[in-house]
Amino acid sequence: MKSKRSYATVMVTGGAGFIGSHVVKRLVKRYPSMRVINVDLLTYAGNLANLASIEDAPNYRFVHADITDTAAMRSLMEEEGVDAVVHLAAESHVDRSILDPDCFARTNVMGTLSLLNAALATWNKRPEGFEGKMFYQISTDEVFGALGAGDAPFCESTPYNPHSPYSASKASADHFVRAYHDTYGLPVVISNCSNNYGPNQFPEKLIPLVINNVRHGRTIPVYGQGLNVRDWLYVGDHAAAIDLILHTAEPGSTYCIGGDNEWRNIDIVKELVRIADQKLGRKAGASEGLITYVADRKGHDLRYAIDATRIRTELGWRPEVDFTTGLALTVEWYLANDKWLDDITSGEYVRYYERMYSGR
Ligand code: NAD
Ligand code: DAU
Repeated sequence: MKSKRSYATVMVTGGAGFIGSHVVKRLVKRYPSMRVINVDLLTYAGNLANLASIEDAPNYRFVHADITDTAAMRSLMEEEGVDAVVHLAAESHVDRSILDPDCFARTNVMGTLSLLNAALATWNKRPEGFEGKMFYQISTDEVFGALGAGDAPFCESTPYNPHSPYSASKASADHFVRAYHDTYGLPVVISNCSNNYGPNQFPEKLIPLVINNVRHGRTIPVYGQGLNVRDWLYVGDHAAAIDLILHTAEPGSTYCIGGDNEWRNIDIVKELVRIADQKLGRKAGASEGLITYVADRKGHDLRYAIDATRIRTELGWRPEVDFTTGLALTVEWYLANDKWLDDITSGEYVRYYERMYSGR
């Protein structure tokens, strides 16, 4: 196993979002002597309610700011003496990227470039230079493109081949991160993870969308024939992998993270409907009729799968939450947190949902 590095101050971007909030909570609780600065613009996807359990912790600070504002990022990094950046802030939903690609270029590409420039300028000025510093880019398996049914899973040496505006923006950002390592020697690490699920995910994404629609007796839209395959990982297991990579990975390295847990969409939808009906005390099959096949997503990638051998063997990571347990926990969480769901699905989400699903 690799030896552990420590950091005095870590800046997490996008820490009010789904994965970011799990990462922030984990770091704040596990490392009381490490200061955690959460930078988030609080777009529709950011929600401070996700961080209620740590908001008063002495080692935590929230900063409401835009990552594309390089001057603000630089002065924050200087003021706080930030020595590691864990960069999660992004526009993250593929369907939205098809409706509005420009916004993805701005946040995901220019936002990442802005943070790289801020880190470079800040760390270059320090007497110790890049020693003990790390810029950690949280990326996705979608940058690798799509697999056929019998193809070997993605791994660290798979070439990038993105198809959606979302994955193209993430791939572009990753290329900038690598370029800053190769050109300026900035210490960077990148991880590419598969589909996460669990509490606090915005219900535009498949799993919380299905649970929310069962709750409301609303149509459950399945794109195409529901035969696309995704690899699902519990969000807490991704947060644990991020923690481990941040503290042990070598600068310049990349890791693929996945659950070894491939499901066809239609199978996962049926399983979620079954669990939700059961937990709501409805009779078996009560909500199955809500499942509706709708027009396919444009450019819909057929299959994602990850070979996580490197992180397992080099860093000793493995997922701890099996899918049966994780799905049950997840359905229970959304049903118990109906106010959380109702608060975030009012306003902007109503307009998005109508634009996305009316006439499909
Ligand atoms: P999310 O959409 O839930 O959260 C994104 C967060 O970024 C929000 O809190 C939002 O307010 C913030 N943000 C957006 N624009 C910003 C800006 N300009 N300045 C500051 N903050 C801004 O996203 P998520 O699903 O938690 O994904 C987090 C990261 O992980 C993303 O980079 C995504 O590409 C990557 N990722 C996600 C998954 C997944 O399954 N969700 C899998 C692999 C990788
Ligand atoms: O693979 C990692 C990626 O996983 C992350 O980088 C993205 O940020 C994250 O959003 C997720 O992307 P997907 O497009 O795979 O996730 P989504 O939940 O949107 O869709 C999962 C699958 O379900 C996909 O094949 C499309 C399908 N789907 C989705 C929705 C929202 C439906 O059939 N109906 C729907 O209403």
